[in-house]
Amino acid sequence: MEFKSNIIIEPFRIKSVEPIKKLSKEDRALALRKAHFNLFKLSSDDVLIDLLTDSGTSAMSALQWGEIQKGDESYAGSSSFAVFEQTIRDLTGYKHIIPTHQGRAAEKILFQTLSKRYSGITPGKIPNNSHFDTTRANLEVAGFEGIDLPCEEFFNFESDFSFKGNMNLEKLEVLLKKFGADQIPIGMLTMTNNSCGGQPVSYKNIEETSRLFKKYKIPFYLDACRFAENVAFIRKHELPDLTPTEIAKKIFRLADGCTFSAKKDALANIGGFLATNDDDLVEDFTSLLILTEGFPTYGGLAGRDLLAIAQGLREILDEDYLEYRLAVTRYIGKKLDALKIPYLRPAGGHAIYLNAKRICDHLKWSEYPGQVLALSLYLEGGIRGCEIGSVMFGKKVDGSESAHPSELVRLAIPRRVYTQSHMDYCCEVIAYVAEHRAKLSAARIVKQPKQLRHFACEFTWPMN
Ligand code: F0G
Repeated sequence: MEFKSNIIIEPFRIKSVEPIKKLSKEDRALALRKAHFNLFKLSSDDVLIDLLTDSGTSAMSALQWGEIQKGDESYAGSSSFAVFEQTIRDLTGYKHIIPTHQGRAAEKILFQTLSKRYSGITPGKIPNNSHFDTTRANLEVAGFEGIDLPCEEFFNFESDFSFKGNMNLEKLEVLLKKFGADQIPIGMLTMTNNSCGGQPVSYKNIEETSRLFKKYKIPFYLDACRFAENVAFIRKHELPDLTPTEIAKKIFRLADGCTFSAKKDALANIGGFLATNDDDLVEDFTSLLILTEGFPTYGGLAGRDLLAIAQGLREILDEDYLEYRLAVTRYIGKKLDALKIPYLRPAGGHAIYLNAKRICDHLKWSEYPGQVLALSLYLEGGIRGCEIGSVMFGKKVDGSESAHPSELVRLAIPRRVYTQSHMDYCCEVIAYVAEHRAKLSAARIVKQPKQLRHFACEFTWPMN
C-alpha cells in the first residue's frame, strides 16, 4: 500500500503572519475616490488581496531571515558578497557578478556602458522576445531602439500552446541578417516573458536564439528575473528527466550574461545583479556601478540582503516549490475555465491575465476596459490587480493615443504569501464582477503626466 495524493500542497508551513483587513464597500469606494481611481495610489492598508505585482512581495523563509542576521556590512571585501558571488557563479557559470539594488539598475549599467561603446550607431537595435517596460525605457534613454519579437502563437490568447513566450526565430534571423553585429550591440531573451502573459520560453527556443546570436557574433544576455518558473515549465513539457538545477545551469550557459531582479525568483524583497563573461566590459560596468550603486562588494545592497538573495536562489529550484508555484496559477485558470471567464491561456508562471476586452466587450478601448475591470475587482472585493492595456501603453511619445492590441488585467501572485482560500475568494470576486459586467461604465482620464502615465494619472469613474 502506498497513499498517493493528487493534491499539490503548499510545501511550507506558516510561522509568521500579517493581518489583512476587509473594508466595507463604502470604505473601498472612499479609498478609490481618494486615489483618483488609480490603484497605484491606494494605501496598501486598504487592500485585502494585493496582486499588483509578484516583485519584492515574496515571503522570505526562516533560513533567509536567519541569513539577514548574519550579514557582513563591511564596505569592502564583505564576506556576504563572497557567498552571493559564489552562489550566482555556481548557478550561472558567469565570470563577473555585479550586485545592484534591483533589476532596472542592472539594465541601466548594461545599456549605458554599451552606449558609450556604440556611440557611432544611431540608433543601435536590441532585439528581445519582449522587453519589459523598464528594460525598454533604459535602453531608449541610452540611445538604442528596442525590438520586440514575440512568437506568432502568443497572439492567439485562446490556444494552449505551452511556450508562448518564445522568440520569433524567423523574424530574429531577418533582423540579424539585415543589421548584423555592427548595428546590434546585444541580443536579449526574457524568461518568463512578462510582457507576454508570463509565458515561458522553451529550451529549444533558447538554444536556437543563442545559436543565431552566435552565428552573427552578437553577445546574448538573458533577462532572467523569472528563470526558475521558466525552468519549471521546461521540466513539465520538455525535459522531464532533468532536475530544475540541471536545466537552469544549461540555460544560463547558452548566454554570455544576464540581468536579474532578485525581487522575483530569488525570493527576496530587494536586489538584483548584472552578470557577464565579457572581460572587456566589466571595467566600465564596475566604474558605473561605483558611481551610481556602490562599491563592487555590495552594489546597491546591504550585506544582509546579499545573503538573503543567495539563500533564496538556493531555495527557488526546489522541485516541490516549483510544482506548487505552477499549480497556483493553473488552479485559478481551471476555476476561470469552469466559470467561462476569458483569460490569456495557458496560465502564466507568475500571474493570470484576465481578458478585459472580452469580459467588458461593451466598452471601447478609449473607455479603458482593463482599468474598469481592475477598479471593479477592488471595489467589490478589495483585490488589487494591474491594467495592462491602453492606459499603460495607449499614449505615444508624440502625445497621441491609440488602442493597445490587448486589454488585460494582470493578477500577479506573490510567492509563498497567499493560500488556496485566498485564491478561491479572488475567483468568487472575479465571477461576481463578470456576472454584473453590463453595469460597468467607462473610466476617463482627467489628468496625466507625459511619461509612464499609468503610475500617476487620475481618472473619473461612475461606481455603479
Ligand atoms: N525585467 C522583467 C521581466 C521584469 O518583470 C521586471 C520587473 C524587471 C526586469 C525590472 O526589475 O523591478 O527589480 O527593477 N517587473 C515588476 C513587475 C516590476 O511587476 O512585473 P526591477
